[in-house]
Amino acid sequence: MLPRCLGKSSTLEILILMFNSFNGDIPPFCAKKNSLKLVGLGYNRLQGKLPRSMADCTRLEFLNIGNNQISDIFPSWLGVLQVLRGLILGSNAFHGIIGKPPTNHEFPNLCIIDLSNNLFSGMLPSKYMENWNFMKYVVANKGSQYFGSQYISTNKYTYYIVVSYNMIIHVKGVELTYVETPYVLRLIDFSSNRFEGEIPASIIGSLRALYFLNLSNNTLSGHIPSSLGNLTALESLDLSQNKLSGRIPGSLAQLTFLEYFNVSHNHLWGPIPLGQQFGTFLEDSYQGNSGLCGKPLSKKCEGSESSRLPPPSSFEEDEEAGFTFEFDWYVVLPGVVSGLVVGVVAGNTLADKKHEWFVETFRRRRKSTTARATRGRRT
Ligand SMILES: *[C@@H]1O[C@H](CO)[C@@H](O)[C@H](O)[C@H]1NC(C)=O
Ligand SMILES: *[C@@H]1O[C@H](CO)[C@@H](O)[C@H](O)[C@H]1NC(C)=O
Ligand SMILES: *[C@@H]1O[C@H](CO)[C@@H](O)[C@H](O)[C@H]1NC(C)=O
Repeated sequence: MLPRCLGKSSTLEILILMFNSFNGDIPPFCAKKNSLKLVGLGYNRLQGKLPRSMADCTRLEFLNIGNNQISDIFPSWLGVLQVLRGLILGSNAFHGIIGKPPTNHEFPNLCIIDLSNNLFSGMLPSKYMENWNFMKYVVANKGSQYFGSQYISTNKYTYYIVVSYNMIIHVKGVELTYVETPYVLRLIDFSSNRFEGEIPASIIGSLRALYFLNLSNNTLSGHIPSSLGNLTALESLDLSQNKLSGRIPGSLAQLTFLEYFNVSHNHLWGPIPLGQQFGTFLEDSYQGNSGLCGKPLSKKCEGSESSRLPPPSSFEEDEEAGFTFEFDWYVVLPGVVSGLVVGVVAGNTLADKKHEWFVETFRRRRKSTTARATRGRRT
């Protein structure tokens, strides 16, 4: 069990107990005035709920509680934490709908959120996403005013943050120095839950600084919003294993940094967009959609289905969808909240495929430094 005194220290800044076999409840944290910035409890066997007292950890920047057995609802009460950057709750037993946030400024600094492999249901939390301003504006090397030299790890991505604003990706003993402000990474992983309904078009289209979006393995329906074409920093988009229908919007061909794209196992049809990155995706990005045609699939498009035609889902339609969605949202109503958290820092031993993929991505990105520097995103 985690010793109770852990939560009581007023000077502790970094607590990393990842990759152990701690079990039982998480003791109350931040009962007193505290300095906790990073809490990494991922990859243990912790149970019960997140201690509500964590809302008093006013300096908390990164919380990783991923890969435990926590059974709780979405910790909306952590939304008051003004400097929280990363919230990793993946692979637990979090459940229930994520309702409306109590105010319009919940999680104001959030850059990384991983809710994957839980039992969340209902609509995607669009009212929260609306407030995630840090995912909206591409930052031009503002420096890490919040961190000194620290080792941070999410469940899936492990990286160092060092004083010089360099990020070192660590996987399987390979070290890649990546000259970048640590918080340039913007990530949403809502995969493998029970989210349903449409992808909120206008809200998702406003999160322009996103690098990584994974909505795979839910029961999302409706069209793929063409507003995704506005996420110009996006490098990875996984929408596979949902119930999405309609065409793949041609606007996605504008995403020149997209390195991973997966829409397999949906109900999509029509031509696959041509050009740019779409020349690089292979057949297994599209499998399990009987209606798709065009390269790289062997099925040719019929005469009228030229790949260059704009998709039928115009942006107006998307806006409309967004509107209906918001209406539905009020019907669904709040009703959520609480839980606790944790997250961060730790092992460089994770070695799942995604990891390698991510590292590979960064490695390749380093090569394209010149191209991106012109846009002020690389030093
Ligand atoms: C997205 O999430 C699914 C399920 O959690 C996972 O299998 C898949 O590898 C993820 N995609 C990416 C690009 O990381
Ligand atoms: C992309 O952003 C521009 C500028 O804000 C906006 O006018 C346009 O409608 C957006 N396009 C989509 C497809 O969301
Ligand atoms: C896309 O996802 C499916 C399952 O969700 C997986 O089988 C397939 O390998 C993925 N494609 C790529 C290119 O990763």
